[in-house]
Amino acid sequence: MQLYTRDVGSGTPLVLLHAFPLSSAMWLAQREGLVSRFRVLTPDMRGFGGSPLGAEEPSVDAMADDVAALLDTKGIDRAIIGGLSMGGYVTLAFCRRHADRVLGAVLADTKATEDAAAAREARISIAERLEADGNVSVLLDDLLPRLVGPTTMQQRALVYGRVRGLVQSTPPLAAAWAQRAMAARPDSTGALAEFRAPTLVLHGAEDAIITEDEARSMAEALPNAELIMIPGSGHLTAVEQPQLFNDAVTEFGAALTRTLR
Ligand code: MLT
Repeated sequence: MQLYTRDVGSGTPLVLLHAFPLSSAMWLAQREGLVSRFRVLTPDMRGFGGSPLGAEEPSVDAMADDVAALLDTKGIDRAIIGGLSMGGYVTLAFCRRHADRVLGAVLADTKATEDAAAAREARISIAERLEADGNVSVLLDDLLPRLVGPTTMQQRALVYGRVRGLVQSTPPLAAAWAQRAMAARPDSTGALAEFRAPTLVLHGAEDAIITEDEARSMAEALPNAELIMIPGSGHLTAVEQPQLFNDAVTEFGAALTRTLR
């Protein structure tokens, strides 16, 4: 699987994996704001943006292996791997399956636990609706209002409009595949103690999808992690508060580079 990837800048490679149901377009402010310090690679996950869906069974492990194949194609041995929400689930799968390739990890607005039974069932019924309807209206109705926080809703109409546009352009079959992949993801909590790479955990103070407790317990279970709360942001910290997000990643990258010298 060749993932369509925007690849800008030079320096320490930083791979950023997008949230559901968006695409690499969500990382615009990171490509612009982090390019002077990092080589920023933002792939479209299978079926999203410019990447084909392929025939693989839905799983976050397949998505993580796509990222490893991307690093191979680019000739990159090790990188900082970061992801937001679904991208975070894939980052955790990458850390489990390709630990030797992780220089550091960024886990934004995500959690290590698996879905409860009810959440898993809800994902399957959303996947079935996406497949039957052939459009993403179920995502616009149910998910979009929770993706950004109240501050963005009230003060950043352009940001909300942009997120809405990204959700609207999501291919329904890719969204269904990703829902099934997330429903099947294993609990990564037990594996966290093995993750040695420095990790930055970011969490929007107004996140309505992942709780602060979930972010905090993930950070506490990691041997080498720091949690930074992002004020005035809901679930999509990188889009809602790009400057704060970029500052935290820049500082994390600088500290990491110092330890590698
Ligand atoms: C995301 O933002 O990637 C999704 O909301 C994650 C999820 O559905 O668990």
